Amino acid sequence: MKTILILLACAALGSPAYADAWTGHWVMQPPPGAPPRTTGAANAPRFPPISLWLKFDGTRLTGYMAVRGDDTPISNGRIDHDHLSFAIIRDYFGEERRSAYSGVLSGSELRITMPSFGSRPPRQVTFLRVSKADPPPLPAPAPKITLPAAKDVPYNGLAKTPPMGWNSWNKFRGEVSDKLVRQVADAMVRNGMRDAGYVYVNIDDTWEAGRDAQGNIQTNERFPDMKALADYIHSKGLKLGIYSSPGPKTCAGYEGSYQHEEQDARTYAAWGVDYLKYDWCSASQVYDYHAMPAVYAKMGQALEDTGRPIVFSLCQYGVLKVQQWGAKVGGNLWRTTGDIQDNWRSMSRIGFDLQAGLESAAGLGHWNDPDMLEIGNGGMTDDEYRTHMSLWAILAAPLLAGNDLRSVPPDILKILTNKEVIAVDQDRLGKEGYRVAKIGDGEIWARPLADGAWAVGLFNRGGSRQRVTLHAENLGLKRMTHIRNLWTHADQKAAAQYTAEVVPHGVVMLEVRGQ
Ligand code: GLA
Repeated sequence: MKTILILLACAALGSPAYADAWTGHWVMQPPPGAPPRTTGAANAPRFPPISLWLKFDGTRLTGYMAVRGDDTPISNGRIDHDHLSFAIIRDYFGEERRSAYSGVLSGSELRITMPSFGSRPPRQVTFLRVSKADPPPLPAPAPKITLPAAKDVPYNGLAKTPPMGWNSWNKFRGEVSDKLVRQVADAMVRNGMRDAGYVYVNIDDTWEAGRDAQGNIQTNERFPDMKALADYIHSKGLKLGIYSSPGPKTCAGYEGSYQHEEQDARTYAAWGVDYLKYDWCSASQVYDYHAMPAVYAKMGQALEDTGRPIVFSLCQYGVLKVQQWGAKVGGNLWRTTGDIQDNWRSMSRIGFDLQAGLESAAGLGHWNDPDMLEIGNGGMTDDEYRTHMSLWAILAAPLLAGNDLRSVPPDILKILTNKEVIAVDQDRLGKEGYRVAKIGDGEIWARPLADGAWAVGLFNRGGSRQRVTLHAENLGLKRMTHIRNLWTHADQKAAAQYTAEVVPHGVVMLEVRGQ
């Protein structure tokens, strides 16, 4: 009897009636209690609008996933009783990226396990069916724009040392506002950040509204008067940064600069903007990605043509070997990786693994950018944040604080404003450091400095204390004559070698002189 029931159930599951349970348009629901991903402009999405169009005909599951107008067919779609699985295969700048999805139908809900992304672990999200219709046919992909090779953009003379400042994204995402930016600027004056060298106050994504009848970019209600804000920032001895995308939309779904590049550059200059972060985001929807250098050169030239000194920060996640052409298109810095997150795994992978080998591309006026700082955002220990700061300084990386500077605990402020470590970052020789030794979990990175000394980091990537030994020959020296610890500010005894006991995920950072 039991077997018969099971057989009957199985037959039912394969039946057209059961197929009806899957077919239709499924829309992802924000997790309960989750803050909206972006807020502000009325036209901006409050949560990434992911949806699934599915069709199950009793044997095959087909359809596509739609993310902000970007439709990708599902591959290997399978239904097994109340379980589903499929893959999404995307072209990531010429590289095939495959993500596996699985899910279960529970009552009227489809619970899908979304794959891990960067250092974010897999997570379960709920989809609800809003229509039982078959998926409409996918429109033929629009032809992508190709552009003639980029013309070189002359160096703008800026960022002779890696830019330093603050950026709103890591902490505030879509909550950035005129009021917040003013408060942060006031705090930077009060707490010594400005005097330590952090001068750029950079508004990241979500300040944009649409365009007026003449095509001029508009600010949304959180930024009532950008010119007045720039004046305020300048009156504090600080500089203002802003953000846009060469695509029609920014990464958070706000208005991009597509087809308005020169006009936007002129607007930024008229407002008094001193820095632009230009983020690829949706540009792949309109451009063949090989056009990337030309697309960036267009904005690089547009900024140059305004006559205002504006630092140009490229953000395209390090693809297409940007370090080989970033400076030629007018870039003062270029991101070398995807987004950093406030955890050890993300920061250490970006800082140690993904920067190695890029050092020869950096120099006065043009820098590799391993992304903004997470120091003080709460996801790492102070030892880990000291590693973050030390490594970024050795890498000659831009130092853009990403925390709430209005209320910084003293220990965090000490990390961000350590003058001796900042001096390494800002060294006028402009040579990026590199790994000179790797012993188990220990790594030694070194950076040559203008006065002939070396900045050296003895790092411990492991979970237990480790002795890390620096030998004079690691630096091409016969012997070390002077060693100073840049975190304890104490001079150490110099010899042919120096051994430090380094705490888990920690660093001993030194300035070394020798012969
Ligand atoms: C991308 C960038 C981030 C940030 C966001 C804003 O993910 O890499 O640094 O600017 O966009 O939407």
